[in-house]
Amino acid sequence: MIVVDSGLGGISVVRALRATHPARTLTYVADTGGFPYGKRTRENINARATELIRQIQTLHQTAPIVLACNTLSTLCLESLRAQFAIPFVGTVPAIKPAAELSKTRRFTLLATPNTAASSYSSALVAQFAADCVVDNYGAPNLAALVEAHLLGAALDLDALRSEITPAFLDDGRGRTDCIVLGCTHYPLIADALGRVAPWPVAWVDSSVAIARRALTLADTAPTSSIAYVTRAEDIARYRDVFLREGFDEVRALTLF
Ligand code: DGL
Repeated sequence: MIVVDSGLGGISVVRALRATHPARTLTYVADTGGFPYGKRTRENINARATELIRQIQTLHQTAPIVLACNTLSTLCLESLRAQFAIPFVGTVPAIKPAAELSKTRRFTLLATPNTAASSYSSALVAQFAADCVVDNYGAPNLAALVEAHLLGAALDLDALRSEITPAFLDDGRGRTDCIVLGCTHYPLIADALGRVAPWPVAWVDSSVAIARRALTLADTAPTSSIAYVTRAEDIARYRDVFLREGFDEVRALTLF
């Protein structure tokens, strides 16, 4: 199987996959040259993802392709399915589980600006959470904070606090008791999120469900676990993280 994200967010899905299948070999593609996807146009993300999948398919004929990125999935999943005759597993915000969990009937989708504004997300809310107040908050820099932290930078807790505080609401329409982590980067700093949260909430993400779904599809496993970045100069920056996460080597794809 091939796991794709704009950066290291897909590692939350990789960890969920490895929790039940520790020896599974995986191919990972991080579009580091395009990171972050959260503020790019749909057309641009679609063009990058199309080229990246075309190239990775010629190198590794493994399937399925797991889009371990909410932004990529909510904006481009349909278009990618129409272009490639391979099975895709998309990652979409965990609106349904949050609606089942929320006691106050008010929760927030915390995601990238693109995912928060997507019609895909509003359709999920209309379908699964019509009886809840659902606030949408597109955090401008949260994915980038997490990416930098995974690459070795200290986590700036004040910056983190200001990225998430607007997702907590308490007014005449109720009090937020649940936050949907609608970006695969966010679960990777779950402890820190809990530390800076204005009050305790349930954090809900899709990684375990995505891993479970991917594992139900017939998988042609690659012979070794290789991670790809999309800028040659990123190999050195990303190598340690990928080796720590069980990948054997890091290579580069050249997109355009
Ligand atoms: N990990 C990606 C997601 O799930 C987004 C990060 C980005 O902005 O590129 O949405």
